[in-house]
Amino acid sequence: EWSMENYIDMEVEKIRENVGSKKVLCALSGGVDSSVVAALVHKAIGDQLICMFIDHGLLRKGEADSVMKTFGEGFDMNLVKIDAQDRFLGKLAGVSDPEEKRKIIGNEFIYVFEEEAGKLENVDFLAQGTLYTDIIESGTDTAQTIKSHHNVGGLPEDMKFDLIEPLNTLFKDEVRKVGSELGLPDEIVWRQPFPGPGLGIRVLGEITDEKLEIVRESDQILRDEIKRAGLDKHIWQYFTALPDMRSVGVMGDERTYDYTVGVRAVTSIDGMTSDWARIPYDVLEIISTRIVNEVKNVNRVVYDVTSKPPSTIEWE
Ligand code: XMP
Repeated sequence: EWSMENYIDMEVEKIRENVGSKKVLCALSGGVDSSVVAALVHKAIGDQLICMFIDHGLLRKGEADSVMKTFGEGFDMNLVKIDAQDRFLGKLAGVSDPEEKRKIIGNEFIYVFEEEAGKLENVDFLAQGTLYTDIIESGTDTAQTIKSHHNVGGLPEDMKFDLIEPLNTLFKDEVRKVGSELGLPDEIVWRQPFPGPGLGIRVLGEITDEKLEIVRESDQILRDEIKRAGLDKHIWQYFTALPDMRSVGVMGDERTYDYTVGVRAVTSIDGMTSDWARIPYDVLEIISTRIVNEVKNVNRVVYDVTSKPPSTIEWE
């Protein structure tokens, strides 16, 4: 009879049999799928699993630390962190076209991964968080091609690993159940979707450290306040974006000319369509006040009230 515990036991058995005494590599992003795969494979083979976490400098505030803490300390995994911030930001300097930014980030990810994986010895397997839905969707690719979702295409053909994809018969809700069963914290199991290119597509136009900082700080405030209002489980995805524009404001007796922060929050089933979330006005007011007061160089906050279609969820 099929149950979550049986599923885990069966997969653990399969992985052990398949892998033997060899090593498995897993690219851990901190997202639900890669986290659950890492936890499952770790349960099966412990230290034979090596997880690689690439920090591309486009993560949200506190994200890298939280991944290191959960998996490195909590699960005591063999976890390698690659600090590739300078490399990614260097490649992105001066680039403002959204699709070009995506391609640069996606390609760089693969280069870094290949390079770092090449330094490891005796790794024969690669564990990936492919879901059942990923397999179906990559067949008839429509939405994916609207924006080049780099992490769907996967790795180059000539990588010499055998793939382990223990989630490829599961839907997202089942993956979450497996994750909880394996002891992953709610904050990971129920994490909102986060795009592979990260904040790189939330800083509109050219990416700079100053702009990344504004998005990180404002996003943290938004997340705090959505959680405080008890809305985090009801809103599918919420984040801030930084349009490439400034506007006039007034602070004290001074005229300011500073950035506008966009707040985006949507309800959705699968990200293919969405509606803007009806966040109560008083919550929006707190978010807006905190952002202009606490984030440097911001003098205006706007709320995105468009559905998808005709908009997309992200602003790039
Ligand atoms: P859009 O903006 O297309 O987003 O309405 C739909 C969902 O996909 C996420 N998204 C991405 N995910 N790489 C990803 O891995 C990407 O390039 C990318 N672009 C958008 C977005 O956050 C939303 O959940």
